[in-house]
Amino acid sequence: MNQKPFIALDFPTWEQTSSFLELFPKGLNVKVGMELYLQNGPSIIEKLLQKDHRIFLDLKLHDIPNTVYSAMRGLAQYDLEFINVHAAGGKVMMEKALEGLQVGTAYNKRTKLIAVTQLTSTTETQMQTEQLISKTINESVLHYATLSKQAGLDGVVCSPHEASIIRENCGEEFLRVTPGIRLGEDEKGDQNRVATPKMAKALGSSHIVVGRSITKSTDPVRAYSQVLNEWEGME
Ligand code: C5P
Repeated sequence: MNQKPFIALDFPTWEQTSSFLELFPKGLNVKVGMELYLQNGPSIIEKLLQKDHRIFLDLKLHDIPNTVYSAMRGLAQYDLEFINVHAAGGKVMMEKALEGLQVGTAYNKRTKLIAVTQLTSTTETQMQTEQLISKTINESVLHYATLSKQAGLDGVVCSPHEASIIRENCGEEFLRVTPGIRLGEDEKGDQNRVATPKMAKALGSSHIVVGRSITKSTDPVRAYSQVLNEWEGME
């Protein structure tokens, strides 16, 4: 798999998505999340695959193990790069997610399964007061990463700030996919644990996900190329 940044296609319609994508050559790494998938259905996946885009399907499944197993078995029919669950669903749920994906895989290559640790929009204070986790955010994220590794997953979604501690404890092969990426001058919006692409690289992210810094830019092609250059160490 190439390690180019994934662009978060957070658009409500296929029309908006395709007019955005027309600015770029085929074969991008893209992320499809709830906004696009839930309003347009699985046909969105087929349309993107036809244009040779590689997809991270970000549905963050979190349900009882049997339901997640069945959903993953169904979603395994698509040729996706990444798919995810919430680690908070527990080890058994993650094991069943992986099993569903293995059973349903119609290609030689199984989609990589990663688990969301703590959302990049969550602050340590929120985590402690709302989830009643009386640990640091690093401890909570590392705990979820360890649990995900024990369940056999390929990696986690975390912020760049936790990437190095996960790499140290879970190994280089265990992926650290990091949203919460902003170009220097951009607004954080609802994100809290943010970093630039250059910082993410230095901090040990294996992959980055970038949405609004590209999609809301007045010049998305220039913004993408800045993200790519920073990520690939050209700037
Ligand atoms: O616009 P922005 O770059 O903040 O978008 C980040 C994308 O990554 C969004 O689609 C969001 O749903 C997703 N995401 C995230 N934090 C996670 C997992 C996914 O921001 N922990």
